[in-house]
Amino acid sequence: MERDDRLGREMTRFLRDWSRRDFLRRTGQAGALLATGSGMAAFLEACGTGSSSGGGASSTVNTSGLPAVPAVPSDVVSAAKKFSGKTVVVSADPTGKGGQAAKLAAAQFEKDTGVKISFVVRPGSTSDTYAQYQRIFTSKASTPDVLDVDVVYPGAYAQYMADAKSLPLLGDLSSKMDQAIIQNNTVGGKLVGVPRAGDFGFLYYRTDLLKKYGFANPPATWQELTDQATKIQAGEKASNPNFYGYVFQGNAYEGLTCNAMEWFTSTGGGDVIDNGKITVDNSNNVAILNLAKGWVGKISPTGVTAFAEEDARNAFTTGAAAFLRNWPYVYSLAADPKNSKIVGNFDVAPLPHGGTGQSSGCVGGWQSGVNGQSQVKEAAAAWIAYTTGPDFQKYSAVNLTTPPTIDTVAKDADVLKANPWLSIKTNRVVRPSKLGAKYNQGSTFIFQSVNSVLRGGDAAQSLSSLKQQLQTLVS
Ligand code: GLC
Repeated sequence: MERDDRLGREMTRFLRDWSRRDFLRRTGQAGALLATGSGMAAFLEACGTGSSSGGGASSTVNTSGLPAVPAVPSDVVSAAKKFSGKTVVVSADPTGKGGQAAKLAAAQFEKDTGVKISFVVRPGSTSDTYAQYQRIFTSKASTPDVLDVDVVYPGAYAQYMADAKSLPLLGDLSSKMDQAIIQNNTVGGKLVGVPRAGDFGFLYYRTDLLKKYGFANPPATWQELTDQATKIQAGEKASNPNFYGYVFQGNAYEGLTCNAMEWFTSTGGGDVIDNGKITVDNSNNVAILNLAKGWVGKISPTGVTAFAEEDARNAFTTGAAAFLRNWPYVYSLAADPKNSKIVGNFDVAPLPHGGTGQSSGCVGGWQSGVNGQSQVKEAAAAWIAYTTGPDFQKYSAVNLTTPPTIDTVAKDADVLKANPWLSIKTNRVVRPSKLGAKYNQGSTFIFQSVNSVLRGGDAAQSLSSLKQQLQTLVS
């Protein structure tokens, strides 16, 4: 529990300090920023870019035009050269520009070190990836050598992973990273993964449509969001029957747990588990779930109950939605003329809150770890050192708007310039990963319960059953 609370606090501090340093935006150079993000997209395999979990549109990202990736740093080259000719099998989501950047990185790594990288596909959805990894772990497979670890899964994966800090290069590298994330990733003294990307949720909105319908500011409360979305949608549907007010991740998977945590914590409903007690069953949470249920089929498409990140992102960047809840990776896509019809017509804001609550953004993020059964752990460590190291993190931040996990990268002027969303002020909410190895079970209870409400179920009844389900995990 302490670990989680600290992660939330520290991430808030880290990102707040970081955004304070966003001097370019403050000094009026922000106007150029939408343009400078162009040509770029999501590195976040993280972000469900394949939407394989949820019956929505598959990723339609144009991946051309990424600049060359950085050379492999000399210390990594010398560590890796001993393994020249060997192959490291890396689990990755191949979709989107993130997938493309990983392919470019693999070619560069082979060229500079002689070590071959072979990708095996992991699903875009973190929940599906979890299921795939369970099969890998229980069969004691030695590959993939490198696994993608969502910030909520170190507790579940720990026993199957190598200790990253005892592998060459990675101990040193992780000491330069955000220590709250390192602590989150350390289970029983073992560093389960090296942070590659941070994440938090926020609101994207159409500046042109707010203006057109007479709204001076993006919505501060969920009710305002509902009202603005209703008005804009009513007007826009005349010319675009597929237009909707608000899109988010409503499918029964991890992304919905993130949305639900934001709804609950921003409306005074608590953190689901507070001080070891299940608190999810309360009237604030019933109220926000009823409001959200009311969106479905009105300001949100009925199909939103099967939407993952890319489904929602596609609706927004094709110009078919006024508001979107998503992660930072969307920024680079929305600003890219090859991937967006709304370049210059969008901006970002904290997610709305309830009458009395404060805006929340769910903490996400991804780490690279080494399979404990891997036969090529040191070569795998070299690949991780390259792709999570400062040069590659800067590349990802500038080109794919991936939040860095290294402070010096986060302070870099080019990074600040390409990521104006950094100025968003919001509370970071941490999912109940205090459940450790039981987290996935707990999150599954949460997203199934919330999804059933969105599909018409009774909010009070669902939360009361959810409380009982979660109780079985803490007692
Ligand atoms: C993003 C976040 C990750 C989260 C996932 C949910 O990839 O980084 O932490 O679990 O979205 O879909």
